[in-house]
Amino acid sequence: MSSHIVLEPLKTPPETPGEKATRRGFLVAAGAAGLCYVGALGYPVYRYLASPMEMASSATAITEVTLKDAQKLASGSVLMFKFGTAPAMLIHHLDGTWVALTAVCTHLGCTVQYEPQMNRIHCACHGGVYDPRTGANVSGPPPKPLKLFKVAVNDSGVLVSRA
Ligand code: FES
Repeated sequence: MSSHIVLEPLKTPPETPGEKATRRGFLVAAGAAGLCYVGALGYPVYRYLASPMEMASSATAITEVTLKDAQKLASGSVLMFKFGTAPAMLIHHLDGTWVALTAVCTHLGCTVQYEPQMNRIHCACHGGVYDPRTGANVSGPPPKPLKLFKVAVNDSGVLVSRA
């Protein structure tokens, strides 16, 4: 006598309309949470990467800036200012010459600082170094020089304009 067992697939009971709605609601909520998560992570990254380009494009909108009373700037010092919305710097060198440059690092857009004691413009983000007279990228990761502006000094201030 032989016996065999017949296996039948388990049948899941049909979903009730309430269960379908609950599952759909969960999927919609999970999708919305995922989008919020991507947005929360992606927006700062976008702003970080886009800021040098935005600064550069905003700087192209204007052609000159008048810095009132900047002719009184002591030699060996720097005046930070905005050219449009982009940071820029006016340097009065010890030999009496004037130089104005963008202060936006060409690597990833950090604001650079003039260090007169080191005779350099330095980017603290990744150690980029620029020449304070020409804006040339001297060492570190910056791929391009800082842009130079034209400088005209008169009795009431300093006119900085696009070169
Ligand atoms: S952002 Fe200036 S060296 Fe990287």
